[in-house]
Amino acid sequence: MCDRPFFFRCINEACQDEFDIGRKLYQCPSCSDLLDIIKNYQDLDPPKLKDIFRQRRASTNPLDISAVWRYREFLPFEEKDLVHVVAMGEGNNPVLETPRCAEYAGLNRLRVKHLGWNPTGSFKDYGMTTAVTQARKLGSRVVACASTGNTSASMAAYCARAGLKAVVFIPEGQIAFGKLSQSLDFGAMTLQIAGDFDVAMSLVRELSQQTDLYLMNSINPFRLEGQHTVMLELFDQLDWKIPDRIVVPGGNLGNSSSYGKILMELKELGFIDKVPRITIIQARGADPLYRTLVTSSAELVPVSDAWTLASAIKIGKPISWKKAMRALKFTDGWCDVVSEQEIADAKAMLGLDGIGCEPASATTVAGLRKMMTLNQGDVTIDPDEDVVAILTGHQLKDPDYTVNYHLDNLYEHATYENNLVQKSGKIQSTFSNKPMAVKPDKDHIIQLLNL
Ligand code: F0G
Repeated sequence: MCDRPFFFRCINEACQDEFDIGRKLYQCPSCSDLLDIIKNYQDLDPPKLKDIFRQRRASTNPLDISAVWRYREFLPFEEKDLVHVVAMGEGNNPVLETPRCAEYAGLNRLRVKHLGWNPTGSFKDYGMTTAVTQARKLGSRVVACASTGNTSASMAAYCARAGLKAVVFIPEGQIAFGKLSQSLDFGAMTLQIAGDFDVAMSLVRELSQQTDLYLMNSINPFRLEGQHTVMLELFDQLDWKIPDRIVVPGGNLGNSSSYGKILMELKELGFIDKVPRITIIQARGADPLYRTLVTSSAELVPVSDAWTLASAIKIGKPISWKKAMRALKFTDGWCDVVSEQEIADAKAMLGLDGIGCEPASATTVAGLRKMMTLNQGDVTIDPDEDVVAILTGHQLKDPDYTVNYHLDNLYEHATYENNLVQKSGKIQSTFSNKPMAVKPDKDHIIQLLNL
């Protein structure tokens, strides 16, 4: 075993080869499987460190203000590396009660942690601060990612701050406008690929093998190391009273993979006794992990032409699927699927709790309801369970979706023929709140409002 403080190790049990952390690696050079970063933790004292984390919340040191670097004892960086840090106060989002959603899902209590309240409006900032810091440390000049919109927005912003050249590969016409606008505003070179996310992903992966491009997708373990601080921050906020279940949307499966890894570490190091069950929810049209799980397949069951209006998770070949499977196994978790209708209604229900999010985030509440009330899931949940749903993206990333839902104009598909729009797969606006056209007339409005 390597005696350096941090090193890469192949996750394949038959391989487990180890590599120097200073190399630009995204997959095992021996067998091409995914890589973990192993940290030789030394002398961590759980009660003492939990106390330090709490104290840092009141600190004005920029490293402590970031809810990623506040937990730096769990990050693969040494003291001397901290000069490279690119941070902007990531995290620090509250854990909120959602009574209407709890009732809707059939739970006695449901809390959400909203990672959409981050500098660029999604959870990606947690992992981007560490990946861009590593890029700087390695002396990279050009970094790249494929994205359904949020990774690219986050990478563009952190690269702008770091003075790195950013190249994003996005599926043309398939990402929400809010996200596209961010990548443009933050000065990234924005390449719109004629193909879906899976095509863009394999292209950028090949380019990063052949050229000097430093790859910033979650196949890069430095992304996941940052993302796992979501669990540390959550537990810190909950005074280390560990929930029974954590529900998270599943797309490229970086988030769930990172949570699984830190839970393994926290358990082994004695920071937690109990392990929350990770529950991943996918959209029915983009459900490769679900298919793999229910068929007990040893290989990924990919979805060609993956489809969902939750464009953030429109992914048929998730890169981190093996790590996500490992997370489900370790935590006795599950993966389920929800329909477009279920996602849309759950998003509206979150709205009625005063919490906006992107469609992908609402899969969590939709999945809970399906597993609970409708009893349609493959696994059921006890109404007394202490559940935290992870919301991943801000409402204003994709306002078209929300407005169309409330206008009763949301369709699963829209195609253009002879300059006419053909729509199919109507989503019912179960909780529609239509705007009303009113005359600029006081009496009319008094009458309307029943005053
Ligand atoms: N929610 C949002 C808002 C996302 O942007 C993504 C992924 C996910 C959930 C799924 O997370 O990939 O860790 O399972 N967006 C990526 C992107 C793919 O390119 O922005 P995951």
